[in-house]
Amino acid sequence: MAKMEVKTSLLDDMIGVGDMVLLEPLNEDSFINNLKKRFDHNEVYTYIGSVVISINPYRSLPIYTPEKVEEYRNRNFYELSPHIFALSDEAYRSLRDQDKDQCILITGESGAGKTEASKLVMSYVAAVCGKGAEVNQVKEQLLQSNPVLEAFGNAKTVRNDNSSRFGKYMDIEFDFKGDPLGGVISNYLLEKSRVVKQPRGERNFHIFYQILSGASEEFLCKLKLERDFSRYNYLGLDSAKVNGVDDAANFRTVRNAMQIVGFMDDETQSVFEVVAAVLKLGNIEFKPESRANGLDESKIKDKNELKEICELTGIDQSVLERAFSFRTVEAKQEKVSTTLNVAQAYYARDALAKNLYSRLFSWLVTRINESIKAQTKVRKKVMGVLDIYGFEIFEDNSFEQFIINYCNEKLQQIFIELTLKEEQEEYIREGIEWTNIEYFNNAIICDLIENNQTGILAMLDEECLRPGTVTDDTFLEKLNQVCATHQHFESRMSKCSRFLNDTSLPHSCFRIQHYAGKVMYQVEGFVDKNNDLLYRDLSQAMWKANHSLIKALFPEGNPAKINLKRPPTAGSQFKASVATLMKNLQTKNPNYIRCIKPNDKKAAHIFNEALVCHQIRYLGLLENVRVRRAGYAFRQAYEPCLERYKMLCTQTWPHWRGPARAGVEVLFDELGIPEEEFSFGRSKIFIRNPRTLFKLEDLRKQRLEDLATLIAKIYRGWKCRTHFLLMKKSQIVIASWVRRYAQQKSYQKTKSSAIIVQSYIRGWKARKLLRELKHLKRCNEAATIIAAYWHGTQVRREYRKFFRANAGRKIYEFTLQRLMQKYFLEMKKKMPSLSPIDKNWPARPYLFLDSTHKELKRIFHLWRCKKYRDQFTDQQKLIYEEKLEASELFKDKKALYPASVGQPFQGAYLEISENPKYKKLKDAVDEKIIIAEVVNKINRANGKATSRIFLLTKNNVLLADQKSGTIKSEVPLGDVTKVSMSSQNDGFFAVHLKEGSEAASKGDFLLSSDHLIEMATKLYRTTLSQTKQKLNIEISDEFLVQFKQDKVCVKFIQGSQKNGNIPTCKRKNNRLLEVAVP
Ligand SMILES: Nc1ncnc2c1ncn2[C@@H]1O[C@H](COP(=O)(O)OP(=O)(O)O)[C@@H](O)[C@H]1O
Ligand SMILES: [Mg+2]
Repeated sequence: MAKMEVKTSLLDDMIGVGDMVLLEPLNEDSFINNLKKRFDHNEVYTYIGSVVISINPYRSLPIYTPEKVEEYRNRNFYELSPHIFALSDEAYRSLRDQDKDQCILITGESGAGKTEASKLVMSYVAAVCGKGAEVNQVKEQLLQSNPVLEAFGNAKTVRNDNSSRFGKYMDIEFDFKGDPLGGVISNYLLEKSRVVKQPRGERNFHIFYQILSGASEEFLCKLKLERDFSRYNYLGLDSAKVNGVDDAANFRTVRNAMQIVGFMDDETQSVFEVVAAVLKLGNIEFKPESRANGLDESKIKDKNELKEICELTGIDQSVLERAFSFRTVEAKQEKVSTTLNVAQAYYARDALAKNLYSRLFSWLVTRINESIKAQTKVRKKVMGVLDIYGFEIFEDNSFEQFIINYCNEKLQQIFIELTLKEEQEEYIREGIEWTNIEYFNNAIICDLIENNQTGILAMLDEECLRPGTVTDDTFLEKLNQVCATHQHFESRMSKCSRFLNDTSLPHSCFRIQHYAGKVMYQVEGFVDKNNDLLYRDLSQAMWKANHSLIKALFPEGNPAKINLKRPPTAGSQFKASVATLMKNLQTKNPNYIRCIKPNDKKAAHIFNEALVCHQIRYLGLLENVRVRRAGYAFRQAYEPCLERYKMLCTQTWPHWRGPARAGVEVLFDELGIPEEEFSFGRSKIFIRNPRTLFKLEDLRKQRLEDLATLIAKIYRGWKCRTHFLLMKKSQIVIASWVRRYAQQKSYQKTKSSAIIVQSYIRGWKARKLLRELKHLKRCNEAATIIAAYWHGTQVRREYRKFFRANAGRKIYEFTLQRLMQKYFLEMKKKMPSLSPIDKNWPARPYLFLDSTHKELKRIFHLWRCKKYRDQFTDQQKLIYEEKLEASELFKDKKALYPASVGQPFQGAYLEISENPKYKKLKDAVDEKIIIAEVVNKINRANGKATSRIFLLTKNNVLLADQKSGTIKSEVPLGDVTKVSMSSQNDGFFAVHLKEGSEAASKGDFLLSSDHLIEMATKLYRTTLSQTKQKLNIEISDEFLVQFKQDKVCVKFIQGSQKNGNIPTCKRKNNRLLEVAVP
């Protein structure tokens, strides 16, 4: 998410004033108070216009985090509270976007935080500029050059534990996109005297301590060093250890940094060899030795150290030894060798050590430049960062301080020039009338120092080159003559009598009134230091070394290039390089960081007003403010100005529709600000007096409060309304949800009911189906089982014979069959005759065949009967039918019957048709005669029998006289009701007639026949066939017979056989007729 850009201003929540330009009243006290107030509130940065004043907090503040970087990134300079990042951002952006080369000038005294500031600038730029593997490598190399240079060029001093002992200017080069391409470092005037001697409480350069603490034993051994600091004369014993500094760890950091920057392993090795050699040089000691010519000569006390140095550096020991003892002076083809006394020998030794070290340092810078230089030839934009020693005012100020202060004068000059120029340019740009500004121009001091004829540096060079005895005193004398009248030069000895009585100014000193204050310089050492002499014998010895680095450090030692001209003096060298620097800076857009040291104790939270006051003075900060405020104290572009104050005027609040400038004009007009207080530029409003601005600010603050109330009011109203609308909307939503819910519920209910009903139906259907299916299944199963059983049975049946279990039965059946067979075969043989009356039947062979045997007998009998019957004619059949009928009627009922069986029924016993005697009878009877026989008719009165012919025709029963053949009585068959007879062996029978019929008038007939059975049977059959009525035949030994009107009982009794076999009939009385049967 893009961070919301909040437009703020430097003026918001200001502690004191964030910009000194706004300070009112402007004087030293208010200036310091403002700084102090801000410092006490951890505001270490304050502006003077675009200049940043930085007070060293001496503790780490949480204001350099990546979040802070983001906060300041791409914001306008005055938008946020003062910060070094704001300046860095401004510089970087105007480099990138406006194509203006930049320089960042960091000044301040030792320990004021210059080096830290330069690192902060670099790290900020590194954080905001382009990214990518290549770019990152360049950044890394640029950043890592710092630890290397710090190790070799920084030392602990009383003022600063990590004091840079050289000036450094670094150009960072960017491409058109603002991505870093590389860089160039220039170094100025390393404080090389520190190599051989350090003031009390200070240390030599860090690298010596770092090697001894951090290198491995093996490496130390290689460098022929021992870990013990006290072994080395060049290492001051005071504060060999610095609190909070881990030399060993730093050594690793340095080696790592060297690697990143691009040092080869052998290069690193050589560098450390040179460092070791320098350290060991300090241990070479000399002792005096008197020579015959009376001159003192020096001798090396202990050659062991020398030997080791030579081994380490590949120098011929004898050559070096000689160089420490003799000095060859060449003049006009003449070589003069003079011996060195002990003091000279020590001087030579120290000079060598200092030269070795300072040249090594310069070589390091060159080497780093080689690594970090931009690889392309494209046009570069440059940002220069100058971290140079600030003004130094010590108790004893020497050549170094002089040089340094000179440099600071130059920087001040360029500052004034550039600031004024910029100011003027802005006025012109904005079309504001330029009023001349009163300010102190330090050009005069610069001239005092650098003037080619009368300048102090020129005097010094002149003295150094002058033949004859040259001392520091002669130099001072010269100064006293030449500069006596100079306003800023002070000396006791000068011709100007002003200082004759100034006891604060010793005789061996001169004082310069720098722009930042007066500094008194001890003249002692000026000449020497300016000469910076190294005996030629030494440089030649070095050049001869079998060590490529050392050889390269002393090119002048090459005899082939012998140059009799003196090398340039330190002063002139410095002057030249400062001139180059100034030229360089003038082409760039300057950005200033003025570092101030709040106390001498390197302590946090302490604000030493006197110390700060002193720095403010020599940094010329008040001057700075004055210059900045010369015309107008405050300026601001119209847009932000309108934006900030538009609420002060009804016409511009809340929106101004026209151009910003017009808005501001209206605004200022309405506020009634006096016209002389402001001026309208092309793009900015210029406010002359800070008071006006503060008035505006106060009004704004007041108005903001009102507005806040208004906004709060509107906001509350809005909030309530929104809340209400929301509630309303919510209510609708809730109601709709509730309704929906209710609908849903009822729907669900209906649905679930439907589902239940449906499910019951489905269940029922399913169960039905299931039942059917189950039934079907059971049927199938049953069929299957039956089939299975059936098949089983069949199979078993088929296979039963193969089973032994059935054997018994089989045998049994077989035996049975055999027996039956035998039985039937025997029966066949024994069959009786076919006569139905044959009673023979073979005996039963076995008991179990009893029923069979009987059955068989019965069947056989039936069969032969049938056979027998089959032989009958129809006539015979009829006879047998009658016989059968007779049997049914009389068998076992009448004793006469058995005797009748054997007699064939003939019927016509009388041949009526043939016998002429019966011709008349025959004619009378035209029907077929079934029976014709002679019977005895019993006289009802006496029981006497009379023969009669009995005829039976189809319809009638006739009785006719035997002799005449006249028909005596004729009875239709229909009138015969009954026939009665006895059960005994007699032939009597009575024919009962129907009462009232014609025949019945004479009463029933009582007859006797020999063929009673036949007669009765035929009568029965004929009646049956004619009348379809069964004739009643009564067999009884007593029955009633109708005689005329009387009924007579006929009684059969057992009689005697006196009359033979004929029965006798006797009428006993009216009512009884007795028949005696034998
Ligand atoms: N911005 C800062 N925040 C915290 N400590 C600082 C800051 N600037 C400087 N210091 C402290 O002050 C010491 C001296 O600073 P340095 O930059 O080396 O001074 P100079 O280069 O001016 O001599 C640093 O080692 C550090 O401890
Ligand atoms: Mg420094």
